[in-house]
Amino acid sequence: MNSKILIIGACGQIGSELTFRLRSQYGDENVVASDISYSNLDIVNSGLFEIVDAKDYASVKTCVEKFKIDTVYLMAAMLSATGEKYPMEAWDLNMTSLFNVLNLAKANFIKKVFWPSSIAVFGPTTPTDYTPQYTIMEPTTVYGMTKQVGERWCEYYFNKFNVDVRSIRYPGIISWKTLPGGGTTDYAVEIYHEALKNKKYSCFLKEDTKLPMMFMDDAIEATVGIMMADPESIKIRSSYNLAAISFTPKEIAASIKKHLPEFEITYQPDYRQDIANSWPKSINDSYARQDWKWKHKFSLDAITEQMLFQLDKKYN
Ligand code: SER
Repeated sequence: MNSKILIIGACGQIGSELTFRLRSQYGDENVVASDISYSNLDIVNSGLFEIVDAKDYASVKTCVEKFKIDTVYLMAAMLSATGEKYPMEAWDLNMTSLFNVLNLAKANFIKKVFWPSSIAVFGPTTPTDYTPQYTIMEPTTVYGMTKQVGERWCEYYFNKFNVDVRSIRYPGIISWKTLPGGGTTDYAVEIYHEALKNKKYSCFLKEDTKLPMMFMDDAIEATVGIMMADPESIKIRSSYNLAAISFTPKEIAASIKKHLPEFEITYQPDYRQDIANSWPKSINDSYARQDWKWKHKFSLDAITEQMLFQLDKKYN
């Protein structure tokens, strides 16, 4: 039987591209996009779309029943930087939405759940280089706390209630279709827009702040890859470390300058510097590579080429 899929948070950075990918794989009639508002008209107007409030169990359940959904991708969340401004709202959205979906699976309304975790589960006491899967996790952001405790709940629902939940710890995601919102790694997307529009960018992180990053195409491959894998191969039911590349603002600027020599970067670190300082510089994702054969494709220069090419088309 074909999967019937619901994407919650389909208007967002990852949700939108996941929607396009799943529609082309499973057919438009089998993929329902949903969000709290009509904020991304490319998604709203290109297939099945429903307004769903991820914080409201009845709202999610109604949509699941209406379309006989069996698989949910829960992509709605408040990210690290916005979460520091609205700590209680971040906690409420990120935790309530997860419980709603896990409880629908526990009650057998749905069979399979994807829930994204993040490098934000790590904190200043975590080893920063090539951070292992199993290590000290003392996150200092509200967002990171929701992701860490969310991972524990995913594993708990798998162990106690046999819920088939799968998760990866995304690094910063670089994409050109939909802008990210409210994250600490957002600079690595903004920089390409500003390079093309104004030939300069004022970065909110210091030049040597190294963070784990990934191109959207790789992130979507990973997401679809873990969901398609044989259930026996998914040995970690909290969340998998996932990695592609790591770079600093200075390095991404140098990569852009290869195409736009007149591009200038300046640095004005703000409160997001502290968040970035608390996260790993690079990630050891050997379990994902071993268990469900994950591999990334895009290098920094390949990302830069794609970003400048696609955004240039958008702006001209
Ligand atoms: N990209 C996210 C953020 O910066 C990390 O998961 O908040």
